[in-house]
Amino acid sequence: MFLASKKVGEKGRVIGVYMTPEMVDRARKAARKGNYGNVEFRLGEIENLPVADNSVDVVISNCVINLSPNKKRVFEEAFRVLKPGGRLIISDIVLLKELPKVIKESEQAYVGCISGAALKNEYLRLIKSVGFRDVNVIEESHFPVDLMINDSIVKEYANSIVSVTVYGIKPTNGSGAKCYGL
Ligand SMILES: C[S@@+](CC[C@H](N)C(=O)[O-])C[C@H]1O[C@@H](n2cnc3c(N)ncnc32)[C@H](O)[C@@H]1O
Repeated sequence: MFLASKKVGEKGRVIGVYMTPEMVDRARKAARKGNYGNVEFRLGEIENLPVADNSVDVVISNCVINLSPNKKRVFEEAFRVLKPGGRLIISDIVLLKELPKVIKESEQAYVGCISGAALKNEYLRLIKSVGFRDVNVIEESHFPVDLMINDSIVKEYANSIVSVTVYGIKPTNGSGAKCYGL
């Protein structure tokens, strides 16, 4: 998960959050190699972001939230760290229909970002429930699960597994009454 403060140019700052020390180490090395002085990496989990309240302008995440068993908590954390008027832009895997037990319990399908995915409507409901407004799916595409996991049952459900990009905004007055548009 990435959290950006101000416009990410020379004066902006980016915080990358990784769950394992190995990933933090690797990211720091890559940033040094690329000479990116305005990026820092912190060890932490998306359910407990190591970031202060109301401190970032944008939260970006790609294909991580599906792995969390507590998605509501993840959205609460994103909401907490965003400044009023701050934006959430996440890309993730969601489901158009429930998966059968055999896929839900498959480790391979979990690691492949499928078993942990929520139903699309429930995912959007959770984002709204923690206070985000103007919640919209801005892109939706087929997720090539049939190419990634060679399993006949997974292939059968391939059309119900999609990749979405979702936008939301933290209202400026905290009550949800006043929102910014895109
Ligand atoms: C499918 S990868 C996506 C990685 C990256 N966002 C990208 O776009 O390449 C999922 C990542 O989520 C991390 N992850 C899983 N659960 C997490 C959690 N609760 N908190 C933080 N990171 C988590 C895993 O360690 C893994 O690096």
